Amino acid sequence: MTPIEKLQKCYESFRAKIDFVPEIALILGSGLGALADEIDVKATLNYDEIEGFPKSTVPGHKGRFVFGYMDEVPVVIMQGRVHYYEGYSMQDVVLPTRLMKMMGAKVLFVTNASGGVNASFSAGDFMLITDQIANFVPSPLIGANFEELGTRFPDMSEIYDKDLRAIVADTAKELDIKLQQGVYIQLTGPNFESPAEVRMCRTLGADAVGMSTACETIAANHAGMKIVGISCVANLGCGLTENPLTHKEVMEAADKAAPLFKKLIRGSIVNIHKSLN
Ligand code: HPA
Repeated sequence: MTPIEKLQKCYESFRAKIDFVPEIALILGSGLGALADEIDVKATLNYDEIEGFPKSTVPGHKGRFVFGYMDEVPVVIMQGRVHYYEGYSMQDVVLPTRLMKMMGAKVLFVTNASGGVNASFSAGDFMLITDQIANFVPSPLIGANFEELGTRFPDMSEIYDKDLRAIVADTAKELDIKLQQGVYIQLTGPNFESPAEVRMCRTLGADAVGMSTACETIAANHAGMKIVGISCVANLGCGLTENPLTHKEVMEAADKAAPLFKKLIRGSIVNIHKSLN
């Protein structure tokens, strides 16, 4: 089965169950899934109910789509994403993103937990993603191009939409939430970085490092979605602190940041919706 046939199959399996049409697709990263419980839920769909859909295996990632209204905005939320380090092909990793585009979403709002690479960041900071470095993972566009999804050689000059970034920055100001800005670099994981790798990331121009997102935005950009993203800097990168890193620490930091993060995402989504309508 080609990736496009698989995608079509997933879409048909989804549409047979759910008729909701989202405007904004939101991917919730590690420890941030609880936001999905706060919307006016109209339907949910577990990933394992979709024929051919890759399953998330990470603790803290629920693995379902939640459809509903965040205030008045129709959204689809991915409560848990699929990671490359779980062993899936890159095409499987981005299948949910492409599927949300097929559902009708025009905007992709990505979130994640990351390690701070910029020495001026603190654990618990939020970072508006201005650009990304994805060259340490394979491009999800490798292989035959499917023109019905997008062009063979997509432009990448403004992955994260300038207007949407301005809306998020204004929303943070309105809500009096501190918002850093910077470049996100995706490495494969699942191991955290060594101190030398964190220094490498910094030398390359990154401000935060993580194990997701950049591949998904490549697929979304290819498919013509508008993209915006916020990273929750759960910890400082290895070498910037004394302590060894654990997944538990990342989850706890994300939990702690969650109330403010939720406020910022909700406010941003409402304001993005206004700008689209
Ligand atoms: N590195 C990579 N991914 C992460 C980190 C980190 O330090 N923290 C949370 N996700």
